This record gives sequence, structure tokens and C-alpha cells, in this order.
Amino acid sequence: MKILIIGSGGREYSIALKLKEEKNIESIYFAPGNGATSRIGQNLDIKDYKDLAKFAQENEIDLTIVGPEAPLSDGVVDIFKTYNLNIFGPSKNAARLESSKAYMKDFLAKNNIKTAKYLNTDNKDEAYKFIDQLKTPLVVKADGLCAGKGVIICQDHQEAKNAVDDMLSGSSFGDAGKRVIIEEYLDGFELSFFAICDGKNFVSLPVAQDHKRLLDNDEGPNTGGMGAYAPSPLANKNLIKKIEEEVVKPTLVGMQNENEPFCGVLFVGVMVVENEPYVLEFNVRFGDPECEVLMPLIDENLSELLLDASKGKLKDIKLKDNYAVGVVIASEKYPYSSSKKEKIDVKQIPQNTHVIYAGVSEIDGELYADGGRVLVCVGYGKNINEAAKNAYLLCDNISFNGMQYRKDIAWQVLNER
Ligand code: AMP
Ligand code: GLY
Repeated sequence: MKILIIGSGGREYSIALKLKEEKNIESIYFAPGNGATSRIGQNLDIKDYKDLAKFAQENEIDLTIVGPEAPLSDGVVDIFKTYNLNIFGPSKNAARLESSKAYMKDFLAKNNIKTAKYLNTDNKDEAYKFIDQLKTPLVVKADGLCAGKGVIICQDHQEAKNAVDDMLSGSSFGDAGKRVIIEEYLDGFELSFFAICDGKNFVSLPVAQDHKRLLDNDEGPNTGGMGAYAPSPLANKNLIKKIEEEVVKPTLVGMQNENEPFCGVLFVGVMVVENEPYVLEFNVRFGDPECEVLMPLIDENLSELLLDASKGKLKDIKLKDNYAVGVVIASEKYPYSSSKKEKIDVKQIPQNTHVIYAGVSEIDGELYADGGRVLVCVGYGKNINEAAKNAYLLCDNISFNGMQYRKDIAWQVLNER
């Protein structure tokens, strides 16, 4: 099979690394890829999606896999389908589950799926009235895509009103904030739930947990994610069943009813409150860094699985009886500003570990840190402790100036380390 992967991060690198093991893979292309993906396949400098579809057609690409949300919400799947190409991901309209929080919340309400009580409005007076009815803390969200920054947890009513003012006026998030969601604060623990969907059917992946804050003990600013692990012992069978029955199934049925069957990865951001799963958000793609710990746990031919899903013919999935932990190594000034390029030194790769490259570029055959989240150290093992120990052993073998990483990934489930 010839595969095209759209995206440039650790998520896309990890998908490719998994595919590379598979005997049926002839070649892998990346658009645009990063400084290390060119060591696995070929990077393409084609930005226009129509041109990319033409490339895929001319080069007989068997399957295109879309990593990030932006191309999905721009309609890359719709474009590829007009060229009769196989592509794994949701249509532009189905991607609204992620690209519009207003659409997503109204969809949840319509389909009786549990979520925080909310108001969806573009009217300031209505917003103020609803804010006054809620207890503190409370949450204000911009409707559109804001690269993970459009959510503000407000400690009092005035802070929430100020956040609404800044969003509705366009001053904080431009057009993405011209409609807001105000919601009650849910106090629980978060899980990342992933289902591979073919429009009608789905298979669930191991439940993961992300670590969004920059610093240990969940302190510091929010980031794209500083580490993840799976499967999480916090998700017992009963909870997984509830998420499948009460969230994933009604979502697939609801999307069929909207005439937008959902094909792709349904990533449910779940808040578990007193054993009940509430949907915080949907994403319509693999999480990053969650994908990096999920790929090594799939005991299946991934290219066949995703190709079947893209054709509406999903079969079962086999998973490994293993655990994986991924520790993100970021550059010095992440997430505030960019840092200067720094040469990455890798001493050795210990057993049961591998490096996933993200924000890197290649200069004269050497890899340089060249982005916020630079790489992910993945370790695996028979339990979380072993997997975390291996991931951190790998971290000890990596160095570049200014590198930073959390020392407590998987803390919610580690017995000791
Ligand atoms: P979202 O992009 O909607 O997932 O929000 C980003 C983060 O904000 C989530 O991962 C949660 O940690 C937090 N968050 C969002 N909504 C709520 C809520 N209703 N209650 C508590 N925390 C929330
Ligand atoms: N790790 C969270 C995300 O990819 O949105």
C-alpha cells in the first residue's frame, strides 16, 4: 500500500512508525512532515488540497490519513472524495463536532448525551444573565478553533463577564469568539477516549490520559499536552461501557440522522464525575500526544484497519496486553514563544522505548529542536510503572539546550517511582 499522511507532528510520526512495521506498506508520504519523517518516507511540499489530491491520484496513493484538525475542518476529506480517493477522516460538516463548540453542545443536548449545563449565545445580556445563575467557578469558551486556548476557567462572575466581553468583541480570539459557550464547572478527572469509526460502527482504543499543564503537579499554563499514558486503570470496564453506550453510539446515530455519518477518529474528552462520563469536548482526530502511546498498543494491521474504516467496512481490533507512557520534551520557551534551534543528542535507545519526533528540522544530516513540542519519549511495559520507568530512561539519554519535560507523567496511577 502507498500511504499519504497529512500533518507534521509527533502524532503523524507515530502513525508512520507503526505503519512501517507492516509488510504491506510500499511507501509513505508526508504533507508536509517534519525533519525526521523524511527518514521514514518522503516529505511533500504541496499546500493546496486539490494539488495534494491530484498528487495522490497520479501516484496511486491507496490511503490518506489526516492527522490534525485544521485540514479536516477545511474540508480536505470532501476534496479527496471528489477525486475518488480513500481518505480516513470526517467530512468538513462532520468535523464541526470539533470546529464549533456551539454545534457540538447543541448536538449533545439534542441526542441526550451528558455534558455540562450550558448556554450558547452571541448576545452579551443573555450571557450575563446565565452567568449570574451559575455557581463559581464557571467556564467560558469561544465557539471556534483557537488552538486549545479558547477555554477560560473563571473564578468569579465578573471574570466570566470580562471573558465574554473580550470574546464577543473579537479582541481575544477574532471570529472564533463571536459566539460563546458558558458552562458549569465539572469537578472530576479527565480521560481521553478514542473510537475509530466508519460511519456506523466503531472500535474503541485503550483509554488514555493527557497532561495539559506545562509543569509537574498540574501547575503552569495549558499546553498542547506534555505527556500521556494508556491504558488508564482509572477507566474500569463499567465506565468504558458507559462511554460506548451513552456517548459513542448515540453520537454515531445522531450524525447519521444529520446526514453526516462520522468516519474517522472520534476523540471524546471525558470528565468523570461520580462515575458518570460527561463530554467536555469532541475532537475528530487522534490526540497528540495520546496517539504516540496508542500506536504501540495496537496489535493489528493499522493500514488495513483504517482503509476498512474509510470504506465503511470496519472489522474488529486486537490490542496488546501492554502499557505505554509518553513524555513530551519541549523547547526552552514553550508554550510562550519560539526558541532558537538546538542540536539534539541521543546517546542510546534503551530496550522497550522509542523516540517520536515532532518539532524538529534536519540540517546536514543532524536533527535540531525546532518547535515547541520537540519529541516524545515513549516507553512500554507490562504495567504503568515499568512503562514510565522506561520512558524516563529514554529521557535521560536525550539532550539539547533548554529542553524541559514533566517528571510526573502518569502520576494519577503510578504506585511509586
Ligand atoms: P476543552 O477544549 O473544551 O476540552 O477544554 C480544555 C480544558 O478545560 C479541558 O481539558 C478541561 O481541563 C477544562 N474544562 C473545559 N470545560 C470544563 C468544564 N465544564 N468543567 C471543568 N473543566 C473544564
Ligand atoms: N492532547 C489533546 C489534543 O490533541 O487535543
